[in-house]
Amino acid sequence: MNKKSIKDVEVGGKRCLVRVDFNVPMKDGVITDENRIDGALPTIKYLMEKGAKVILCSHMGKPHNIFTEGFGLTKKEKKAVEALPEEERAAAKAEYLKKALKDKEKFTLRPVAERLSEKLGKKVVFAEDIVGESATAAVANMKDGDVVLLENTRFDAGEEGRSEELCKKLAAFCDVYVNDAFGTAHRSHATTAAIVEYGFVKTAVCGFLIEKELSVMADALENPVRPFVAILGGAKISDKLKVIDNLLNKCDTLIIGGGMAYTFIKAKGYNVGNSLVDDEQIGYCKEMMAKADALGKKLYLPIDAVITKEFPNPIDAKVDTEVCDIDKIPDDKEALDIGPKSAALFADAVKNAKTVIWNGPMGVSENPCFAKGTIAVAKALAETSATTIIGGGDSAAAVKNLGFADKMTHISTGGGASLELFEGKKLPGIECLNDK
Ligand code: 3PG
Repeated sequence: MNKKSIKDVEVGGKRCLVRVDFNVPMKDGVITDENRIDGALPTIKYLMEKGAKVILCSHMGKPHNIFTEGFGLTKKEKKAVEALPEEERAAAKAEYLKKALKDKEKFTLRPVAERLSEKLGKKVVFAEDIVGESATAAVANMKDGDVVLLENTRFDAGEEGRSEELCKKLAAFCDVYVNDAFGTAHRSHATTAAIVEYGFVKTAVCGFLIEKELSVMADALENPVRPFVAILGGAKISDKLKVIDNLLNKCDTLIIGGGMAYTFIKAKGYNVGNSLVDDEQIGYCKEMMAKADALGKKLYLPIDAVITKEFPNPIDAKVDTEVCDIDKIPDDKEALDIGPKSAALFADAVKNAKTVIWNGPMGVSENPCFAKGTIAVAKALAETSATTIIGGGDSAAAVKNLGFADKMTHISTGGGASLELFEGKKLPGIECLNDK
């Protein structure tokens, strides 16, 4: 990796602003997956041990821009209020504000500060704002080795809007900027890239999580031990166009399952019934199949499927299913998982692999009726001796829920970010950092 890390700069006694990705799933104020917090611990602990003042910042979810948009309304809501007759505005404002305040409760990072304090064995001071009075006082009172967590950066519209003012104020808190938010490295926001790009901080380095994620994934993509198998799933093919194209250049075998496979199946000339198809991408699928042929790469698609008459509602409702060969999907049925023959074919392809990357479930894995394909792939990966890399998101959740997490070489903390790496894209949160 050609970017400097925290090991390459002096951090002792310095105020370090560390962008982490604490965008963790929560249910009723309780964190349900702590992987991202755990992923940031090595960097935080190292900085504490070196006597740095550690100022953490992160976004959480997609909340209202509570701190910047006047009375807590989004631009759209504000416009809607302004369009109302004068006498109705106050009540409408109050209604929207209630919603925004609920967002504040829902998306506050306070529970993360509490959990992090437990993990570090030291109180993490939580600032009630990002660059306001609370944050300024918290930073001013820090001693070497202290940790402060700022409130959700997306409560300020300037985060996603790359506001110079926000960047300047944050930069005034620190001597060193550290990016360790791999999960958000594909976003070009104030705290992930702009603060450095605008020149407000000069020393900008990565933390250990970004270093690890990049070394495992970039290495696998650039210098894979072969055979190299890539497995892609998920519903929409349009999300993965560049990934398929790029991975075909790099891997020996590309396996495609999930909803996106049925556009390929239709492109092969088969009837897919009511299965999910993106007709605009039929030409693209033909092109990719021809590319695989021309490059001598194996491209595996499902050979059978689990079908049903109606999409389950709610998504995990039990429905009647049957299995059919891929060329026999009836007009009134849709395929929602790969069938057992496909699962065996895919597992076999993984068996002799030396490197495997996986992104995206094989079917509607939230529903036990359509989860067998995803489970089979997870199991095959758990059993192979290959280097196995799980590219975040749903496949990471599947592996963890099935208890296979410790059988994988690497589970990425970034779904979107790892996909962009698989696409061959440069990530702004990494590009902006100081070169070695
Ligand atoms: C993620 O969960 O993928 C990252 O935290 C980025 O979040 P975003 O998609 O809301 O930018």
